[in-house]
Amino acid sequence: MSIVRIGIVTISDRASRGVYIDRGGPAIAEELGRILTTPWQAETRLIADEQPLIETALIELCQSIGCPLVVTTGGTGPAPRDVTPEATEAVCTKMMPGFGEAMRAASLKSVPTAILSRQTAGILGQSLIINLPGKPAAIAECLAAIFAAVPYCIDLIGGPRLETNPAVIRAFRPKNA
Ligand code: MTE
Repeated sequence: MSIVRIGIVTISDRASRGVYIDRGGPAIAEELGRILTTPWQAETRLIADEQPLIETALIELCQSIGCPLVVTTGGTGPAPRDVTPEATEAVCTKMMPGFGEAMRAASLKSVPTAILSRQTAGILGQSLIINLPGKPAAIAECLAAIFAAVPYCIDLIGGPRLETNPAVIRAFRPKNA
């Protein structure tokens, strides 16, 4: 079987123009490296806050490259250029609002402005797309809040079986699954 590829999409006008270095994408890769024991390979993208560009990247990663999981960072807030949740909804066939709810609830324990993130998640074919906020500090916190449910979600949509390091995150699969 071919190696599992995971999409990591940084959505930021400034990082994509080189005004500053992308720290979110590498933070996601590092965190997934700690969580997953299944061998995987990152498919990274760095794009501006433009809905058509985000939709194209998500479709390419899910449909052409076959990533069972795509994690985005950035563009989830209330500012006019923040359109990541809209792009996610536009390409997904099914929304998974529980992911956003759980991440906001966890983040709210450390920062009141967590409520400003409209982050969501959804299914496109056999792929799960999850939005994370743009702040690098949010990444570990948000992944920790939801990742126990990610492998089983990917099982249910027909993706590859992902295993995690239980010392970091214990993947939960209901009995007999
Ligand atoms: N969540 C966590 N865990 N940590 C944070 O620092 N920042 C918040 C929120 N969620 C934050 C967070 C802020 S200030 C904003 S504006 C929103 O995420 C949206 O950020 P984004 O537009 O960069 O995605």
